[in-house]
Amino acid sequence: MTEQKATNVHWHAGEVTRAERGQLLGQKGATIWFTGLSGSGKSTVAVALEKVLHAQGRLVYRLDGDNVRLGINKNLGFSAEDRTENIRRIGEIAKLFVDAGVIVLSSFVSPYRADRDVVRKLHADGGMDFIEVYVEVPLAEAEKRDPKGLYKKARAGEIKNFTGISDPYEAPEAPELVLHSAEMSLELEVETLLTMLKNRGILPA
Ligand code: ADX
Repeated sequence: MTEQKATNVHWHAGEVTRAERGQLLGQKGATIWFTGLSGSGKSTVAVALEKVLHAQGRLVYRLDGDNVRLGINKNLGFSAEDRTENIRRIGEIAKLFVDAGVIVLSSFVSPYRADRDVVRKLHADGGMDFIEVYVEVPLAEAEKRDPKGLYKKARAGEIKNFTGISDPYEAPEAPELVLHSAEMSLELEVETLLTMLKNRGILPA
């Protein structure tokens, strides 16, 4: 039997606006979307940026591939369809956080350009900021780091569809920022992000 999907569903507006929530917090929400190979340093830089922003009094929240896949997306694997659904759900969750006024730092491999563009459009349609940050690292460097031992397993054929080894990674064509993580210190990456966020009006100058 085919399951009946929700129809006749309509958006129900509240009486507190996004701008009013922003006033309460003294900030405007935005999504900073880190994309890159496993082991590129997405989570590391998101954790470091979160710490600095929090210390500056910003309400910031991280959404991370490994964490989200332990919870809301535990029913998803790494086929192209599941990755697309993973990113679609994260995009919707990020949008809810942004609507609440939070600065979201999301770190997902998000290997497909089309999936990232769906999230970008979702934000644009809602009048929300979406900043794509490509954490670029040569595959050989990510493989050398191999913090979770996954590249080794992928090379041994123990993990199928592993991004960069047996599955594609489509690099962003026009990201708002590229961080060359093999050539930059973590401090410089955070500095570069802070400058960009100020220049874009997401953080006060
Ligand atoms: S995504 O492709 O759907 O965006 P996501 O960021 O949620 O991926 O999860 C990637 C993390 O899951 C990696 O950092 C790695 O630790 C782990 N992982 C396990 N299997 C794979 C795989 N086949 N490809 C990529 N990452 C994998």
